[in-house]
Amino acid sequence: MDDLLDAHVKDAYRMTTHKLFLLPGDGIGAEVMAEATKLINWFNQTGIAAFEIEQGLVGGSAYDAHGEAICDADVALAQSADAVLFGAVGGPKWDGVPYDKRPEAGLLRLRKDLELFANLRPAICYPALADGSSLKREIVEGLDLLIVRELTGGVYFGEPKEITDLGNGQKRAIDTQIYDTYEIERAARVAFDLARTRRNKVSSAEKRNVMKSGVLWNEVVTRVHAEEYPDVELEHVLADNCGMQLVRNPKQYDVIVTDNLFGDVLSDVAAMLTGSLGMLPSASLGAPDEKTGRRKSLYEPVHGSAPDIAGTGKANPIAMIASLAMALRYSLNMGEWADQVEAAIGAVLAQGFRTPDLMDDGMKEVGTSEMGDHILAELAETGAA
Ligand code: IPM
Ligand code: MG
Repeated sequence: MDDLLDAHVKDAYRMTTHKLFLLPGDGIGAEVMAEATKLINWFNQTGIAAFEIEQGLVGGSAYDAHGEAICDADVALAQSADAVLFGAVGGPKWDGVPYDKRPEAGLLRLRKDLELFANLRPAICYPALADGSSLKREIVEGLDLLIVRELTGGVYFGEPKEITDLGNGQKRAIDTQIYDTYEIERAARVAFDLARTRRNKVSSAEKRNVMKSGVLWNEVVTRVHAEEYPDVELEHVLADNCGMQLVRNPKQYDVIVTDNLFGDVLSDVAAMLTGSLGMLPSASLGAPDEKTGRRKSLYEPVHGSAPDIAGTGKANPIAMIASLAMALRYSLNMGEWADQVEAAIGAVLAQGFRTPDLMDDGMKEVGTSEMGDHILAELAETGAA
């Protein structure tokens, strides 16, 4: 791109103000969010972008303040934001709170109220970390897969969902797995669309051998493929086998599309392939608005609140920073800067800097804040050029 165009593009960024809503949450959430905020501030200070930032409470910290896992005003701010950045929720402090007010309820409400049905969880193994995985280098080196997890349906939200007393000293717990055709169609379309921008292959994971919802999932994905995406390669895999294949030969996968619960489990497996749960970002997207094309969106690291290391300055901020990169790409029309942020992460890892979760012989151990500083310095040096 020549200089003129570059300047012109930078001007366009400058003219548009993007509203970012930050929900750091609990545990290490605030610490990793602080590192993403350094990058956001840098974009503002350099004039590359104009971000308006608001911050709210979610999870246990919201419960402590308002007695619920997120308040209506913060849900409204999330609805109107161009992108929500979410840290993490939960911790032993809130183990005893009522079930519907537990920290996770705040995240689930956001997903449901904003209709964020498509959860994108990329698992990329940075070359510098290939030895950090619990699998052998040759299995994970060069890994680049994407899980598209359905996020607003299935057993997470299906009713009835209850524990009843049978009156004979026994209780009965019920969760309900429900999928309607349209929910499977829209998740499948996101997966096929993304596959077209990658290696053009979709693996659809379900349990059609045991579950009716798996039978329907399989049928709908097959039809959407035949009618709308015949150019994309499609395979069906049983979800348990998919878990096994992920640790046997993960590089066979490009895009995996699956339901809410299987996606939760498979994405944790995929995360570990990359060396640490601290590496995996995610994007949760709604349908594009009919007029503006804008999608509601929330970006969060896949790791949780890690209460055991909260406050120690040891948390790995990379998944949070990589989640910001996804926001730049999918919500803020700054895809080139998303590439730059990801390149900066790769460069800092290649220079040998490691948070404790990634630490290996001969590497330089750094804390949360130093890792953020290194990534920002790298971005400022190469990106601003
Ligand atoms: C995730 C998490 C959540 C989930 C929890 C915190 C409710 O594990 O995003 O993967 O189960 O979806
Ligand atoms: Mg999970």
